[in-house]
Amino acid sequence: MAFIRTEDRDGVRIITLDNPPVNSLSFALSGELLPIVEAATADAGVKAVVFTGANGIFSAGADINDFSIEPTPETRTIRDVIAAVERSDKIFVAAIEKNALGGGLELSLACDYRVADAKARVGLPEIKLGLLPGAGGTQRLPRLVGAQDALDMMLKGRNVKMDEAKEKGIVDEVVEGNVLDAVVKLAQSAPPKRRISARKVELGKGITPQAEPFVVSQAHKMVPPENNGGLAAHKLIDAVEAAFELPFAFGLAREARLFEELARSQPSFALRHVFFAERELAKIPGLPAAKPLEVKKAGVIGAGTMGTGIAITFAQAGIPVTVIDSNEEAVEKAKQTVFGMFMYQVQKGRMTQEDAWKLGQSIQFTHEYEELADADVVVEAVFENMDVKKDVFKKLDTIVKPEGILASNTSTLDIDEMASVTKRPDKFIGLHFFVPANIMPLLEIVRGKDTSPETIATAFKLGKTLKKTAVLSANAFGFIGNRMVFDYAKAAGELAEEGISPARIDAIAKKFGFPMGPFAMGDLSGIDVAWHIAKARPDIAKGRTNVIDRLVEMKRLGQKTMAGYFKYDKAVGKGREPIADPEIEALFAEEAKKAGITPREVSDREILDRLTFALINRGAYLLEEGVALRPGDIDIVYVYGYGFPPHHGGPMWYADEVGVKHVYDRVREFGWEPAPLLKEIAERGGTFADYKQGELVHA
Ligand code: CAA
Repeated sequence: MAFIRTEDRDGVRIITLDNPPVNSLSFALSGELLPIVEAATADAGVKAVVFTGANGIFSAGADINDFSIEPTPETRTIRDVIAAVERSDKIFVAAIEKNALGGGLELSLACDYRVADAKARVGLPEIKLGLLPGAGGTQRLPRLVGAQDALDMMLKGRNVKMDEAKEKGIVDEVVEGNVLDAVVKLAQSAPPKRRISARKVELGKGITPQAEPFVVSQAHKMVPPENNGGLAAHKLIDAVEAAFELPFAFGLAREARLFEELARSQPSFALRHVFFAERELAKIPGLPAAKPLEVKKAGVIGAGTMGTGIAITFAQAGIPVTVIDSNEEAVEKAKQTVFGMFMYQVQKGRMTQEDAWKLGQSIQFTHEYEELADADVVVEAVFENMDVKKDVFKKLDTIVKPEGILASNTSTLDIDEMASVTKRPDKFIGLHFFVPANIMPLLEIVRGKDTSPETIATAFKLGKTLKKTAVLSANAFGFIGNRMVFDYAKAAGELAEEGISPARIDAIAKKFGFPMGPFAMGDLSGIDVAWHIAKARPDIAKGRTNVIDRLVEMKRLGQKTMAGYFKYDKAVGKGREPIADPEIEALFAEEAKKAGITPREVSDREILDRLTFALINRGAYLLEEGVALRPGDIDIVYVYGYGFPPHHGGPMWYADEVGVKHVYDRVREFGWEPAPLLKEIAERGGTFADYKQGELVHA
């Protein structure tokens, strides 16, 4: 297959990268490109060489799939191509459209000049894959923009827009019209040769070279520990340090060695899994192709925290939204939240006052349901009670135009039961946002038994417009995320009943990489919420003891009442920092005694296993029941919605990391009922990564 096209224009050789959809610089492409670059170098008729990309994009970098392939002596990589560019005496220019990322930017950094379209973005996002830029980026970018700015860009994996890229000198020219024409013109003007590799590395404007050890040691201090999500960051800093200390060629060799180490590291495999799992989400096996409806106007029922957050999300995506609530007090509070939110964006310089005003105006509050007659989608976000929700939908069904989609933001309840009170169950769906809805990236799309392919397609498209990562779940209590969290919370509660302090359990979860532990999470979402759920479905969510009832009696409802499993103090971390409370340990002990549970010594390992394996076991049930489509879907829910450390790839990926057989054995040791799918994979020595939907053959 041909990945490269060439064309000559008056002494300029135009080399077009053509590997749809994103012109990834695969081994195969590089193998084809290398002799083409060498031929251009050897051709006396060629004055200059231009790299450009087909498909409206320069290149998204190396092919991420290739990192899992063992190269052979014949393998050529983008590194070999870049070395050939570096050796050449010709002038090289990159014509950048849309994206030059990773290896794509690295190829253009090896060129003498870079010209980009005004809407393009450039960046070295490898850190997000647990890697470092491995084709000269860590050596060239610091020489171009200064080590400090280069570190900032690479450690955050930040893709920069053209105003910043031009200002920093990453691109030389930004054009509004045809980039290729501008590049050919530049190439023909016989500009001087400029190799970035020939420059000296500087720290940054106004920083003396003596500060280098300080900058490097500070950078190491600012990133997570090597064994907990920071492996790639530390190696990246090491590579930039090499740019200071070693001649260019040696720096490149150091970078290559560090890159290879990372490409084989467990966190990078996990992060690459997250990357691809995210791109699988909208591919729904067996779903007939359907054209999504356009959402031009939205409605939200309920001006509480959730409803307000959802309304802000719509407004930010450019969709005008009407919020219905008859409670004046709630509406007043919501208006203040909206105002505060947009003012904050203005203060941070992310938005002009005028834009903030316009966005604020695109959210209307009213108590008239009739205002929603022409809404394309209405999201209900009222109190978590089936009867209340049914009343809302009965009313909406008579008012909203027949083609409008009705959605519930319920976090647990039955979508089909709600749909049954409407005459449009095909246009009924769950859209489960996470608090705060305007910040949290996850959206669970819940498919009812009658939801049409068109409605599902619209929900996915809407998710993309709202900049959410959308995962499809079947209609089952708690869907994917919350159904699993009940088991996780139960596992945490049982540990506390056995005499382990909530503070120790939370500390172990945090050490593993969760941003907060299960008890702090319970306090944040509200003990009353957990109480209601346990009352509604004791079979699923009730623990062994009555600790939750006691907490509710004591009015310890979590962070909002400054006491729950922990205490909170306004003077400590703005009232959000959990403070261990011996009273709660005593409460667990008392309730455990009543229930006949004896305290015991539990190791840190067991604590972590019980928390994480509870998630895995339930995840296996959900796969088998068809609630979740793929292990990767569950992983995305947990990474984006519940803070599961991405460097462990999500619970199902983590099961493969520690061994499914090991998880299965431990689940049995803990006295839990192992999911049949867990048993089946464990017994045949398989992995969740190899799992195919519907694979389990039930006995
Ligand atoms: N390698 C392999 N496949 C890639 C890819 C890459 N670098 N980038 C994107 N793709 C694939 C996606 O998997 C997806 O495939 P499917 O259609 O089969 O699902 C397809 O291209 C389209 O991708 P998106 O759905 O993400 O499209 P988008 O328009 O929303 O986003 C993008 C485009 C911004 C380029 C985004 O895909 C992206 O961020 N890609 C990754 C960029 C990256 O991390 N580059 C660094 C690579 S590592 C490297 O280059 C190392 C080095 O130093 C040499």
